[in-house]
Amino acid sequence: MSIIEAEIEKYIAQHSSSASSVLQKIERETYLKTIYPRMISGQIQGRFISMISNMLKPLHILEIGTFTGYSAICLTEGMKENGQLHTIEINEELKDQNLKYFKEAGVADKITAHIGNALDIIPKLGIQFDLIFIDADKINYCKYFDLSMNCMKKGGFILVDNVLWNGKVVLSPSKKIDKDTVAIKEFNEKVQDDERVENVMIPLRDGMTLIQKIC
Ligand SMILES: C[S@@+](CC[C@H](N)C(=O)[O-])C[C@H]1O[C@@H](n2cnc3c(N)ncnc32)[C@H](O)[C@@H]1O
Repeated sequence: MSIIEAEIEKYIAQHSSSASSVLQKIERETYLKTIYPRMISGQIQGRFISMISNMLKPLHILEIGTFTGYSAICLTEGMKENGQLHTIEINEELKDQNLKYFKEAGVADKITAHIGNALDIIPKLGIQFDLIFIDADKINYCKYFDLSMNCMKKGGFILVDNVLWNGKVVLSPSKKIDKDTVAIKEFNEKVQDDERVENVMIPLRDGMTLIQKIC
């Protein structure tokens, strides 16, 4: 089930700002060189993430799930001049290519790229973040939310990707659903029930939730 018709998606793209030439190159190469290129944020989500970052002007950003670095670069676009983005990726094979892209985008000095399991790395960072982007393995979304709440400033924001999971979150309970769908549904319920946050789900691409830690 696709949540947005292809024609509407095309119209949205035509009526949104373009990504920089470096980001367009990263997207092209991601489609040519990786097995699951659809994981990349791409133009619309990238421009949205960039705008959120520009509105918040964060000093410390955490990204869980670097992939080919597209969203990391978008997130740096609104970061304070002396800010730093920490991004975590479990797949070591992406490391050299991502560094090359960060250099080409002129943001290598603004990004600390960690290689390893985010569940192990986040508790060791010792930083209070202003903005966190959760975009890694769906099965651990609830754990990422708990870890994020522990290292997030009061008033800070968490942005979460794929919360509609191709529309599978609304499949009838009688249908057999896969473990990622179960995990996303559990995550969505957990956020909705958490009185420490304000949250809004946005039907952008595969669904994004914007969460603010209010206490
Ligand atoms: C959807 S992609 C990220 C896309 C990227 N944020 C973007 O928008 O271009 C998810 C990434 O999370 C990584 N990942 C999966 N499990 C992880 C874990 N436990 N720790 C860190 N990274 C993980 C995957 O290898 C994959 O590259």
